[in-house]
Amino acid sequence: MGPLAATWLLAMISLTVALDNGLLKTPPMGWMAWERFRCDVDCKDDPENCIGEGLFRDMADRLAEDGWKELGYEYVIIDDCWMSMLRDEQGRLQPEPSRFPGGIPKLARYIHDRGLKLGIYADMGTHTCMGFPGTTLDKIEIDAQTFASWGVDYLKFDGCNSNAVQQMLGYPLMSKALNATGRPMAYSCSWPVYVGGLPLNVNYTFLGDICHLWRNYYDIQDSWDSLQSIIEWFSNNQDDLQPAAGPGRWNDPDMLIIGNFGLSVDQARSQMALWAIMAAPLIMSNDLRNLDNSARAILQNKMAIAINQDPMGIQGRRLLQEKSHIEVYWRPLSHSASALVFLSRRTDMPYHYRSSLAKLHYDTGNYKAYDVFAGSTAKVLNASTEFSVSINPSGVVMWYVYTEQQSKQMEKLHYQQKKASQFTFHKAKPGHHTVL
Ligand code: GLA
Repeated sequence: MGPLAATWLLAMISLTVALDNGLLKTPPMGWMAWERFRCDVDCKDDPENCIGEGLFRDMADRLAEDGWKELGYEYVIIDDCWMSMLRDEQGRLQPEPSRFPGGIPKLARYIHDRGLKLGIYADMGTHTCMGFPGTTLDKIEIDAQTFASWGVDYLKFDGCNSNAVQQMLGYPLMSKALNATGRPMAYSCSWPVYVGGLPLNVNYTFLGDICHLWRNYYDIQDSWDSLQSIIEWFSNNQDDLQPAAGPGRWNDPDMLIIGNFGLSVDQARSQMALWAIMAAPLIMSNDLRNLDNSARAILQNKMAIAINQDPMGIQGRRLLQEKSHIEVYWRPLSHSASALVFLSRRTDMPYHYRSSLAKLHYDTGNYKAYDVFAGSTAKVLNASTEFSVSINPSGVVMWYVYTEQQSKQMEKLHYQQKKASQFTFHKAKPGHHTVL
């Protein structure tokens, strides 16, 4: 297909497809199996960790009972390797019966009964990335119907084993098919990854009309190197990516790996901080049954979550890359507030970085800065006040910056946070969610 024909085709499809079902006005939050549990299908020797209904029930229990749900973490998402190698007599996908003996509808009920939502994985191609049955163009409708009939709330639609033309047809078609089921389902598209992640190969305006979120770049692995390469790619390409995001349409730099093996505590804070700046999905892939307190505290940091979930939904940007290997990131937030992250890419020792809000393009006036991870009393700053922050190697200092007028509300929140137990935080409804 020539570029003109392709553009025409997209224009025609976009006239008929818009996935505006009101979902994901803020980035999705939850848990997904892939990064931590991969394609472990050995339920005989590894029953605790294999891709089977027990693992998803366990994670639903943890989300519901350990304070995650109240913070907004609500999706339990099955990734690759859940399927039987064969479709059923009616041509429907089915789970591997030995690992999902109760079937998906029963698992969906289990998850819904706990106030959570179920996500599932399929692939727009002949096979999934791990070789399980794919959703070719002729199967899109039946698979969308099947997922809806099972009570699925979220679809991750991968793109292995398909070509560019099939993707161009298949991703919009699935959007339409999901809409046609009448069941509101969040739709995560891996399309951009398979075509390089950038314009002109990716039309982000169109993508935002048909998908709620999309993977732009390579898979995250359990290492600081992997995390740095993702942050670097998203920041280097922020002029193309940042404007694509907004309520109902999010860039997805991939799962949170906090609580696994590859990150130090400082590096884990860096991921949480940068994911908040980037308005990224907060989808953990870790073992919620075995999480140390520092990982839990980072993932459950209310201010970092509130920044991530800011209702304006404006993605932040890297403002500065200093010769000292300090980088400054910024995100505008509701009520004239903002978030600042100072990231150290150094490998020696804590670095004292000096700046002022004026140097970071803030208007003149008085501000307060609340240190998100230290949780300390806010610093009072004038835009021209010189400040110094001490940033650990591969770590961050993250600030919530607000104006004097807001400080009364802020003090109230501080007071409530001190009083409230760990498990009594209630996420405001989308659209009414204020960052204090
Ligand atoms: C791709 C995706 C991953 C995961 C695997 C499963 O690599 O990007 O997130 O879903 O496939 O096979």
